[in-house]
Amino acid sequence: MPRLKYLLVTLTFAASLLAQQPAKSHTDDWWKHAVIYEIYPRSFQDSDGDGIGDINGITSRLDYLKDLGVNAIWITPMYPSPGIDYGYDISNYTAIDPEYGTMADFDHMVAEAKKRGIRVIMDYVINHTSDQSPWFIESRSSRDNPKRDWYIWRDGKGPGQPPNNWQSWFGHSAWTFDEKTNQWYYHYFYPQQPDLNWRNPEVQKAMEGVLEFWMNHGVDGFRIDAVSRLFEDPGLHDDPYLPGYNAYGDRNIEHKYTDNYPEVNDILKRLRKVVGKYPGDPVLITEADEPNITELTKLYGNGDEVQLPMDFQIADVNKLSAPDFRRLFSDVENNTAHGQPEYFFSNHDQPRQWDRYGDGVHNDQIAKLVATLLLTTRGTPQMYYGEEIGMRTTDPARIEDVHDPIGKLGWPKEKGRDGERTPMQWDTAANAGFTTSAKPWLPIPTSSSVYNVENEKPDPNSIFNAYKTLLARRQSEPALRDGSQVNVDEQNPYVFSFLRKASGSTVLVSLNMSAEPHTVYLNLAGKGVKGTALKPLYSSPPFGDEIISADHIALPPFGVLVAKVQ
Ligand code: GLC
Ligand code: MG
Repeated sequence: MPRLKYLLVTLTFAASLLAQQPAKSHTDDWWKHAVIYEIYPRSFQDSDGDGIGDINGITSRLDYLKDLGVNAIWITPMYPSPGIDYGYDISNYTAIDPEYGTMADFDHMVAEAKKRGIRVIMDYVINHTSDQSPWFIESRSSRDNPKRDWYIWRDGKGPGQPPNNWQSWFGHSAWTFDEKTNQWYYHYFYPQQPDLNWRNPEVQKAMEGVLEFWMNHGVDGFRIDAVSRLFEDPGLHDDPYLPGYNAYGDRNIEHKYTDNYPEVNDILKRLRKVVGKYPGDPVLITEADEPNITELTKLYGNGDEVQLPMDFQIADVNKLSAPDFRRLFSDVENNTAHGQPEYFFSNHDQPRQWDRYGDGVHNDQIAKLVATLLLTTRGTPQMYYGEEIGMRTTDPARIEDVHDPIGKLGWPKEKGRDGERTPMQWDTAANAGFTTSAKPWLPIPTSSSVYNVENEKPDPNSIFNAYKTLLARRQSEPALRDGSQVNVDEQNPYVFSFLRKASGSTVLVSLNMSAEPHTVYLNLAGKGVKGTALKPLYSSPPFGDEIISADHIALPPFGVLVAKVQ
């Protein structure tokens, strides 16, 4: 081969390699240092007066988010949907539901977010589609339709009998009979959410195309919904029963044959490859309720699956227990993949942290303590809209008012998820500034007259300003941004203390998780830290700016200290 041609071929080959593997740039690993803010679009800000939040509403609040100090937003589904599961039943993955706006509104929002240094993460709901998806409509039309195998169709055990005893997470059988073709289809969630068959390569291809579509619209990553549910036992074995009954009146069951199949990891690898073709280090986050650190660690693969598995173990401690948090965070620090999970305490599926951790007496103080825990630990924090102002869960009072179907099915034991999805509380105007409509889609909680952005912004001791200060410290202090996390005072039953250590700087965090005052005496030298003088970076109730000694830290009930060691 002539030299020049050889050189060209080599260069082209090198370029194609580079195209497959974008060069590392300053944007790489941004997700390690970001704080992600979850937006439930229906409830964040209404811009057109129909009582339902929308995309232009989000865009109008980007300055608020920038001022608060978050770096990315994850928006729950805004795709066309019949809305049985409020957007988690998608009928078209590559469009915007007119209820929320247009594709042009979306592109505008992404561009405006970018200008403010805020990244956009989409929800990627892959276990199931809506039963109104054209894919499913075709699939159910006949047994020999080319899309029949895109879903999971099986014969019943006998007349009127489903193929086995598998149960839906949302109550009753996971199988629904379809008269037309005389077979049953499988759905882990509502009957209107048929499960896709991820063993079918055409399904894989179609869903990979969805990722590409949104990457081309400039998004920065995806939160993958319900990922552990992608595969089920092809042998259709019955799940084992457990003692007792659930809120829906079904026998309790262990979802042994419908959860956490190792094939999930193969799919995650494929998805990571798809987003990895794009520059800017796009992030994948998994919603997978893993029972322990060993299972959670598998989601990193060899660094070729997801960057940020959500840590449900820490999210669900549900009591202020220093020993429990100490043990769980140290599990994470020692995970064999050296991965960094995503931490959160609230989301659109569970009662807000205000209610889960509050004791009814010290709730504001506890809200600041939980904020400190979230924003000073080493994982990537994820906030849920409104937690920064102390929003609480406000369940419907009557079954007639319930929107979320599980609330109707399980009433009164299970009131559904409306309570944690109420509109954002912006100010003291009508409907808390959320909408100009007389009828917001969910009622505005009465607590909004006190707990709202307008009231809390000027108050230095508000929950809002606790978040704002902590978010700023997390960016400005190298130890909080990047440092390792090391427990101290390990036997203390009431106070959870740990160090964040980066080269050349150390920050101490002490959280009194009890309603009694406690004094801690820390031996930092024993942890290889020089210096015992502490300069407060954030404290609540406020300690003032004076230097205190690590030998003697007096913490009031639920008191919090974040301090630089000098
Ligand atoms: C996830 C979502 C939840 C939804 C379910 C089914 O758990 O967070 O809101 O109902 O998946 O898509
Ligand atoms: Mg609207």
